[in-house]
Amino acid sequence: AVDMTTALGTAPLGSPVLTASGCSAFGQELEPFVDLAGLGAVVTKSVQLRPRSGRPTPRMAETPSGMLNSIGLQGPGIEGLLAGELPWLAQRGVPAFVSIAGTRVEDFAELAARLRGVPGVLGLEVNISCPNVESRGEVFACDPVAASEVVSAVRAAADPAQPVYAKLSPDVTDIVSVARAVSEAGADGLSMINTLLGLVIDPDTMKPVLGGVTGGLSGPAVRPVAVRCVWQVHAALPEVPILGMGGIRTGLDALQFVLAGASAVSVGTAVFHDPSATARVHRELAEALAARGFSSLREAVGYAHR
Ligand code: DOR
Repeated sequence: AVDMTTALGTAPLGSPVLTASGCSAFGQELEPFVDLAGLGAVVTKSVQLRPRSGRPTPRMAETPSGMLNSIGLQGPGIEGLLAGELPWLAQRGVPAFVSIAGTRVEDFAELAARLRGVPGVLGLEVNISCPNVESRGEVFACDPVAASEVVSAVRAAADPAQPVYAKLSPDVTDIVSVARAVSEAGADGLSMINTLLGLVIDPDTMKPVLGGVTGGLSGPAVRPVAVRCVWQVHAALPEVPILGMGGIRTGLDALQFVLAGASAVSVGTAVFHDPSATARVHRELAEALAARGFSSLREAVGYAHR
């Protein structure tokens, strides 16, 4: 059997397949369909200091090529998470990779401090790339300087045992310069990619379908964009671990990300049609690696560059 173990920075993972932030909340609704403890980790919906209600409805639209969402970081706030969802995951032995979001650098740092030493919290995914915020200026990941400020504040405030991954946006002209800046600022790894800014207009009403007008595109449409981002960043920064995501639905999709340089992957949009997609992707990826003569996942990471 193929050795599927990997790591997020210094944190070992039993499986390279994780959920993707925002697509399965805090894991509870997947429990009937998959062995949560068998996942690499559950990546939580982004949490903020205070509960937030999000953007005007409707906030989800399906297109033939992918899903458009404008949730706007709706969520319970850190108190709720510490009291409810994180203990629930810890009791079940499910590692949590907690996504954090904020509007100011200090918000991110405070969240990291609140999550220090919390049982079951494997690490932090710093969401600096949500496209559904009031002003594009809040998308820290569009500017290498703003992105680095957030990451260095989080790295300084976070538990040294918890790896810090920065989640990057595909909506930039040079993702490598953002990746390099956040790595130099102390990121232990990179999550790529967040959704791509999009818009759908209903031909009947002749208006945007989403209440928030624009939204983030995910699913099959963005997969080649995501693979390209992983490829470019791995080529430039081969030592920086990458958690790859963007339209992964099958083991062969996941294999593309691994060959491009990802050492773990998140499955997001696919769970809406197949709630056991994470477990299936793990199995299919293991089979695909075996069929290509690999005895471990690690040997395949970045193979397409060699
Ligand atoms: O597409 C996204 N939607 N990306 C995020 O980072 C957050 C989410 C939301 O809540 O709008």
